[in-house]
Amino acid sequence: HDAVEVIATKRDGGRLSGSQIDWVVDAYTRDVVAPEQMSALAMAIVLNGMDREEIARWTDAMIRSGQRMDFSSLSRPTADKHSTGGVGDKITLPLAPLVAACGVAVPQLSGRGLGHTGGTLDKLEAIPGWRADLDNAAMLEQLDEVGAVICAAGTGLAPADKKLYALRDVTGTVESIPLIASSIMSKKIAEGTGSLVLDVKVGSGAFMKDLDDARELARTMVELGRAAGVDTRALLTDMATPLGRTAGNALEVAEAVEVLAGGGPEDVVELTLALAREMLASVGRDDIDPADVLADGRAMDCWRAMISAQGGDPDAPLPHAADIQVVAAEEDGYVARIDAMAVGLAAWRLGAGRSRPGETVQAGAGVELHVGLGDRVRRGQPLMTLHTETPERLPRALAALDDGLELSEQPTPVRDSVILDRI
Ligand code: URA
Repeated sequence: HDAVEVIATKRDGGRLSGSQIDWVVDAYTRDVVAPEQMSALAMAIVLNGMDREEIARWTDAMIRSGQRMDFSSLSRPTADKHSTGGVGDKITLPLAPLVAACGVAVPQLSGRGLGHTGGTLDKLEAIPGWRADLDNAAMLEQLDEVGAVICAAGTGLAPADKKLYALRDVTGTVESIPLIASSIMSKKIAEGTGSLVLDVKVGSGAFMKDLDDARELARTMVELGRAAGVDTRALLTDMATPLGRTAGNALEVAEAVEVLAGGGPEDVVELTLALAREMLASVGRDDIDPADVLADGRAMDCWRAMISAQGGDPDAPLPHAADIQVVAAEEDGYVARIDAMAVGLAAWRLGAGRSRPGETVQAGAGVELHVGLGDRVRRGQPLMTLHTETPERLPRALAALDDGLELSEQPTPVRDSVILDRI
C-alpha cells in the first residue's frame, strides 16, 4: 500500500480494506506515513465516514500499535468509567473512590484538558503534592491496596491514537463519530478493564450537540467494547448546562469533596450514583447501594487513601486565585438557561485550561455559580464569581458569558434529571 492510494479510496467514498487500515495505522505510528497524509485521510473520514467493520478494524489496529495492560492478577473485578468530556465534569473524583469502597478495582487512566473541557489530572494536580505519573507496578499495587487509582495513561497504550488525536486536534478533524469512538475505545480496551461505563455528553458544552448523534456515538462504542469482550454500557447525559456549580481545577476538587462528605449539588450526586450503579451492575454487584457507601463515609475514607497514596495531602488547603470578580443579576427573574459552552469558555479564558499542549494551568482559576436552573433571583444578587491569577483576562471571560446566563420573568420548566437515555 501507499498513503495516496489509501487517502484516495476514502476521498472517493470507498471502503478501506482491512489491510489498508492495518498498514496506514502502523505506518503512521512508525513515521512512514507523514502527518500531512494522515490529516488528509482523517479529513476524508470526517467527510465520508467509516462503516462498523472499518471502525472495528481501525480500533484494533490502534490497540495493536502498543501494549495491553492486564488486571487479571487483581483479587477484585475491574470497572472503569469514561466521559466524552464536559464542563464542570468532576464526576471521576467522587466516583472512583465510591466504587472502590464497594469492593471494585477502579483504574481511571485520565488525561489533561485541551480546549474548554477540563482534564481530570489538571483538577487533581490542584491538591498540594499529588502526582499523576505512576508506573504500572505502582498502579497495580494501589489498585490492590486502595482500590482506586486516577493517573496518567502510560505512553505504551495505543500510541497510534495519541499521535493521531494530537493531529486531529489541530486539523479540525476531531468531530467524527468513527474517529472519536475508535480513539476512546482503543485506549479503554488496551487498558484491560473488565467492564466499562460510558458517560456520553449531549449539548452545547459537549462534542455531540444533539441526542441522535450522541446515541449513535454511544451505540458505536458499546458495540466495539462488547466485541472485544468488555462489558460496556452507556448513559447519555445532559451537557447543555454545566455539571454542578463549579468549572475550574481547585474549585471542582472542593465540590467533589463536598459530595464525598455527603453534600454537594444535586446533579453531581445524581450522576455519581447513577454511574456507580452501572459500574456495580457490570461486575455483578448490584446488591450494593452506593448511596449507603457515600452516606456512611466509606467513599470519603477511600478518597483520602487514594490521594495520600499518590503523594497528595487530603487536608491541605486548596489554592485560591488572587483576583475575583462577582457578576450580579441586572434584573429580577428566574434562571432559565446557564450555557455550558459559555461557562467552559470563560473558565478556560480565566486560566483553568490551556491553548497549547504542555502549558501550565492555574489551579485556582475558574467560574463558581451561585445559582442553579430554575432559581428565583433578585436584581443585584450575585450570580457567579470569576476567579483568576491574571486579571487582564477578565474582560474576555466576561465576554464569553455575555449570553450565557438567561433570566426569564416567569418560572420556566427545567430538567428534572441529567440522565437522558441509557444504552
Ligand atoms: N476523547 C478521546 O479520547 N478521543 C477523541 O477522539 C475524542 C475525545
